[in-house]
Amino acid sequence: MRTPIVAGNWKMNKTAADAVALVKALLDNGIDQIAGVEAVVCPTFTALDAVSRLCEGTNLAVGAQNLYFEPNGAYTGEIAPEMVAEFCKYVIIGHSERRGYFGETDETVNKKLKAAFGAGLLPILCVGETYEENQAGKTADVVTSQVKADLAGLTADQVASMVIAYEPIWAIGTGLAATGEQAQQVIHDYVRVPVTEMFGEAAAQAMRIQYGGSVKPSNAQEFFGQPDIDGALVGGASLKPDFTEIVKAAAEAK
Ligand code: PGA
Repeated sequence: MRTPIVAGNWKMNKTAADAVALVKALLDNGIDQIAGVEAVVCPTFTALDAVSRLCEGTNLAVGAQNLYFEPNGAYTGEIAPEMVAEFCKYVIIGHSERRGYFGETDETVNKKLKAAFGAGLLPILCVGETYEENQAGKTADVVTSQVKADLAGLTADQVASMVIAYEPIWAIGTGLAATGEQAQQVIHDYVRVPVTEMFGEAAAQAMRIQYGGSVKPSNAQEFFGQPDIDGALVGGASLKPDFTEIVKAAAEAK
Protein backbone atom coordinates (compact mmCIF):
# COMPACT_ATOMS: atom_id res chain seq x y z
CA MET A 1 0.00 0.00 0.00
CA ARG A 2 1.48 3.33 -1.05
CA THR A 3 1.37 6.25 1.38
CA PRO A 4 -0.20 9.21 -0.43
CA ILE A 5 1.88 12.36 -0.71
CA VAL A 6 0.38 15.83 -1.00
CA ALA A 7 2.87 18.56 -1.91
CA GLY A 8 2.32 22.30 -2.06
CA ASN A 9 4.15 23.98 -4.93
CA TRP A 10 4.28 27.62 -3.87
CA LYS A 11 5.91 28.69 -7.15
CA MET A 12 7.27 32.27 -7.09
CA ASN A 13 5.14 33.35 -4.16
CA LYS A 14 5.89 34.42 -0.59
CA THR A 15 8.94 36.06 0.94
CA ALA A 16 10.76 34.14 3.65
CA ALA A 17 8.71 36.03 6.26
CA ASP A 18 5.42 35.18 4.49
CA ALA A 19 6.53 31.56 4.14
CA VAL A 20 7.23 31.29 7.87
CA ALA A 21 3.79 32.71 8.65
CA LEU A 22 2.09 30.16 6.38
CA VAL A 23 4.03 27.20 7.77
CA LYS A 24 3.13 28.29 11.31
CA ALA A 25 -0.53 28.44 10.28
CA LEU A 26 -0.34 24.99 8.65
CA LEU A 27 1.27 23.50 11.75
CA ASP A 28 -1.37 25.20 13.94
CA ASN A 29 -3.94 23.52 11.69
CA GLY A 30 -2.36 20.18 12.51
CA ILE A 31 -1.04 19.46 9.02
CA ASP A 32 1.70 17.24 10.41
CA GLN A 33 -0.67 15.31 12.71
CA ILE A 34 -2.66 13.62 9.96
CA ALA A 35 -1.83 9.92 9.91
CA GLY A 36 -1.34 7.90 6.75
CA VAL A 37 -0.30 10.71 4.43
CA GLU A 38 2.89 12.63 3.76
CA ALA A 39 2.59 16.43 3.53
CA VAL A 40 5.25 18.56 1.83
CA VAL A 41 5.70 22.28 1.30
CA CYS A 42 7.88 23.59 -1.55
CA PRO A 43 8.73 27.26 -1.03
CA THR A 44 11.18 29.36 -3.07
CA PHE A 45 14.91 28.90 -2.47
CA THR A 46 15.17 32.02 -0.32
CA ALA A 47 12.62 30.63 2.17
CA LEU A 48 14.04 27.09 2.42
CA ASP A 49 16.33 27.77 5.37
CA ALA A 50 13.64 29.38 7.54
CA VAL A 51 10.96 26.87 6.54
CA SER A 52 13.19 23.84 7.11
CA ARG A 53 14.03 25.09 10.62
CA LEU A 54 10.34 25.41 11.43
CA CYS A 55 9.61 21.93 10.10
CA GLU A 56 12.41 20.26 12.04
CA GLY A 57 10.97 17.68 14.41
CA THR A 58 7.56 17.78 12.69
CA ASN A 59 6.13 15.46 10.05
CA LEU A 60 5.86 18.29 7.52
CA ALA A 61 8.50 17.70 4.83
CA VAL A 62 10.21 20.36 2.74
CA GLY A 63 10.91 20.37 -0.99
CA ALA A 64 12.58 22.74 -3.45
CA GLN A 65 11.11 23.68 -6.82
CA ASN A 66 14.19 23.13 -8.96
CA LEU A 67 17.94 22.54 -8.94
CA TYR A 68 20.81 22.60 -11.42
CA PHE A 69 22.50 19.35 -12.38
CA GLU A 70 26.13 20.41 -11.96
CA PRO A 71 27.64 19.97 -8.47
CA ASN A 72 29.30 23.43 -8.31
CA GLY A 73 31.15 25.97 -10.43
CA ALA A 74 30.63 28.96 -12.68
CA TYR A 75 26.83 28.84 -13.10
CA THR A 76 25.74 32.23 -11.86
CA GLY A 77 22.28 32.20 -10.34
CA GLU A 78 21.90 28.43 -10.20
CA ILE A 79 21.53 26.16 -7.14
CA ALA A 80 23.43 22.86 -6.82
CA PRO A 81 21.81 19.59 -5.67
CA GLU A 82 23.80 19.51 -2.43
CA MET A 83 22.70 23.06 -1.62
CA VAL A 84 19.11 21.96 -1.95
CA ALA A 85 19.75 18.81 0.06
CA GLU A 86 20.92 20.89 3.05
CA PHE A 87 17.30 21.93 3.58
CA CYS A 88 15.08 19.52 1.70
CA LYS A 89 13.96 15.93 1.35
CA TYR A 90 12.16 16.49 -1.97
CA VAL A 91 12.74 18.49 -5.14
CA ILE A 92 10.27 19.21 -7.93
CA ILE A 93 11.86 18.58 -11.32
CA GLY A 94 10.61 19.38 -14.82
CA HIS A 95 7.53 21.40 -13.86
CA SER A 96 5.73 22.53 -17.02
CA GLU A 97 6.50 26.16 -16.13
CA ARG A 98 10.22 25.28 -16.13
CA ARG A 99 9.84 23.45 -19.43
CA GLY A 100 7.68 26.16 -20.98
CA TYR A 101 9.35 29.37 -19.77
CA PHE A 102 12.92 28.33 -19.00
CA GLY A 103 13.78 25.93 -21.80
CA GLU A 104 13.98 22.69 -19.83
CA THR A 105 13.97 19.60 -22.01
CA ASP A 106 13.66 15.89 -21.31
CA GLU A 107 17.46 15.80 -21.55
CA THR A 108 18.04 18.41 -18.81
CA VAL A 109 15.24 16.90 -16.73
CA ASN A 110 16.96 13.51 -16.93
CA LYS A 111 20.27 15.05 -15.81
CA LYS A 112 18.52 16.83 -12.95
CA LEU A 113 16.85 13.62 -11.77
CA LYS A 114 20.22 11.86 -11.65
CA ALA A 115 21.82 14.82 -9.87
CA ALA A 116 18.98 14.91 -7.33
CA PHE A 117 19.44 11.24 -6.47
CA GLY A 118 23.20 11.81 -6.27
CA ALA A 119 22.59 14.35 -3.52
CA GLY A 120 20.15 12.11 -1.63
CA LEU A 121 17.03 14.00 -2.69
CA LEU A 122 13.73 12.42 -3.73
CA PRO A 123 12.45 13.95 -6.96
CA ILE A 124 8.87 14.86 -7.79
CA LEU A 125 8.98 14.69 -11.58
CA CYS A 126 6.28 16.58 -13.48
CA VAL A 127 4.87 15.41 -16.80
CA GLY A 128 1.79 16.45 -18.75
CA GLU A 129 0.36 17.52 -22.08
CA THR A 130 -0.77 20.92 -23.39
CA TYR A 131 -4.37 21.70 -24.30
CA GLU A 132 -3.56 21.44 -28.02
CA GLU A 133 -1.88 18.08 -27.56
CA ASN A 134 -4.81 16.87 -25.52
CA GLN A 135 -7.34 17.96 -28.15
CA ALA A 136 -5.27 16.36 -30.91
CA GLY A 137 -5.41 13.02 -29.10
CA LYS A 138 -1.69 13.09 -28.30
CA THR A 139 -1.85 12.70 -24.53
CA ALA A 140 -0.63 9.08 -24.57
CA ASP A 141 2.33 9.88 -26.85
CA VAL A 142 3.38 13.01 -25.00
CA VAL A 143 3.12 11.68 -21.46
CA THR A 144 4.64 8.27 -22.19
CA SER A 145 7.54 9.74 -24.13
CA GLN A 146 8.27 12.19 -21.31
CA VAL A 147 8.23 9.34 -18.78
CA LYS A 148 10.58 7.22 -20.90
CA ALA A 149 13.05 10.00 -21.70
CA ASP A 150 13.06 11.53 -18.24
CA LEU A 151 13.60 8.26 -16.37
CA ALA A 152 16.18 6.79 -18.78
CA GLY A 153 19.19 5.34 -17.00
CA LEU A 154 17.73 5.46 -13.47
CA THR A 155 17.71 2.31 -11.35
CA ALA A 156 14.57 0.44 -10.30
CA ASP A 157 15.29 1.36 -6.67
CA GLN A 158 15.51 5.04 -7.52
CA VAL A 159 12.27 4.91 -9.47
CA ALA A 160 10.53 3.06 -6.64
CA SER A 161 11.44 5.85 -4.22
CA MET A 162 10.46 8.83 -6.35
CA VAL A 163 7.22 10.61 -7.17
CA ILE A 164 5.74 11.53 -10.53
CA ALA A 165 3.13 14.28 -10.80
CA TYR A 166 0.85 14.05 -13.82
CA GLU A 167 -0.11 17.66 -14.46
CA PRO A 168 -2.10 18.35 -17.62
CA ILE A 169 -0.90 21.85 -18.53
CA TRP A 170 -4.43 22.96 -19.42
CA ALA A 171 -5.49 22.27 -15.82
CA ILE A 172 -2.70 24.23 -14.08
CA GLY A 173 -3.91 27.45 -12.52
CA THR A 174 -7.00 27.50 -14.71
CA GLY A 175 -9.64 26.19 -12.32
CA LEU A 176 -10.31 23.56 -15.02
CA ALA A 177 -9.23 20.34 -13.32
CA ALA A 178 -9.26 17.01 -15.11
CA THR A 179 -11.89 14.57 -13.87
CA GLY A 180 -10.84 11.83 -11.47
CA GLU A 181 -11.43 9.23 -14.21
CA GLN A 182 -9.37 11.14 -16.79
CA ALA A 183 -6.46 11.52 -14.40
CA GLN A 184 -6.68 7.88 -13.31
CA GLN A 185 -6.60 6.68 -16.91
CA VAL A 186 -3.55 8.75 -17.87
CA ILE A 187 -1.73 7.91 -14.65
CA HIS A 188 -2.34 4.19 -15.03
CA ASP A 189 -2.02 3.72 -18.78
CA TYR A 190 0.61 6.32 -19.70
CA VAL A 191 2.69 6.55 -16.52
CA ARG A 192 2.44 3.39 -14.38
CA VAL A 193 2.34 0.98 -17.32
CA PRO A 194 5.46 2.39 -19.07
CA VAL A 195 7.27 2.49 -15.72
CA THR A 196 6.37 -1.19 -15.28
CA GLU A 197 7.79 -1.97 -18.71
CA MET A 198 11.00 -0.08 -17.98
CA PHE A 199 11.68 -0.94 -14.34
CA GLY A 200 9.45 -3.88 -13.44
CA GLU A 201 6.28 -4.42 -11.46
CA ALA A 202 7.75 -3.87 -7.98
CA ALA A 203 9.23 -0.45 -8.77
CA ALA A 204 6.09 0.69 -10.61
CA GLN A 205 3.82 -0.42 -7.77
CA ALA A 206 5.99 1.31 -5.15
CA MET A 207 6.29 4.60 -7.04
CA ARG A 208 3.81 7.26 -6.00
CA ILE A 209 2.00 9.14 -8.75
CA GLN A 210 0.20 12.38 -8.03
CA TYR A 211 -2.36 14.35 -9.97
CA GLY A 212 -1.81 18.11 -10.25
CA GLY A 213 -3.84 20.92 -11.81
CA SER A 214 -6.46 23.01 -10.00
CA VAL A 215 -6.74 20.66 -7.02
CA LYS A 216 -8.60 22.31 -4.13
CA PRO A 217 -10.36 21.20 -0.97
CA SER A 218 -13.69 20.89 -2.82
CA ASN A 219 -12.48 18.52 -5.58
CA ALA A 220 -9.59 16.66 -3.90
CA GLN A 221 -11.69 13.65 -2.91
CA GLU A 222 -12.48 12.91 -6.54
CA PHE A 223 -8.81 12.25 -7.28
CA PHE A 224 -7.83 10.49 -4.09
CA GLY A 225 -10.59 7.93 -4.56
CA GLN A 226 -8.86 6.63 -7.71
CA PRO A 227 -6.72 3.50 -7.34
CA ASP A 228 -3.58 4.82 -9.05
CA ILE A 229 -3.62 8.39 -7.73
CA ASP A 230 -1.36 8.65 -4.69
CA GLY A 231 -1.83 12.27 -3.72
CA ALA A 232 -1.56 15.65 -5.41
CA LEU A 233 0.79 18.42 -6.39
CA VAL A 234 -1.08 21.58 -5.47
CA GLY A 235 -0.28 25.13 -6.61
CA GLY A 236 -2.72 27.93 -5.83
CA ALA A 237 -4.63 26.07 -3.10
CA SER A 238 -1.39 25.33 -1.21
CA LEU A 239 -0.83 29.03 -0.46
CA LYS A 240 -3.48 29.10 2.26
CA PRO A 241 -3.82 27.36 5.65
CA ASP A 242 -6.70 25.23 4.37
CA PHE A 243 -4.18 23.32 2.24
CA THR A 244 -4.49 21.10 5.31
CA GLU A 245 -7.98 20.09 4.10
CA ILE A 246 -6.47 18.57 0.95
CA VAL A 247 -3.96 16.61 3.04
CA LYS A 248 -6.85 15.34 5.20
CA ALA A 249 -8.82 14.30 2.13
CA ALA A 250 -5.88 12.21 0.92
CA ALA A 251 -5.60 10.47 4.29
CA GLU A 252 -9.33 9.77 4.46
CA ALA A 253 -9.48 8.28 0.97
CA LYS A 254 -6.86 5.63 1.57
P1 PGA B 1 -2.50 24.68 -9.52
O1 PGA B 1 -0.94 24.35 -9.87
O2 PGA B 1 -2.87 23.78 -8.39
O3 PGA B 1 -2.50 26.13 -9.14
O4 PGA B 1 -3.28 24.39 -10.75
C1 PGA B 1 -0.45 23.04 -9.83
C2 PGA B 1 1.01 23.04 -10.20
O5 PGA B 1 1.42 23.78 -11.10
O6 PGA B 1 1.80 22.29 -9.60
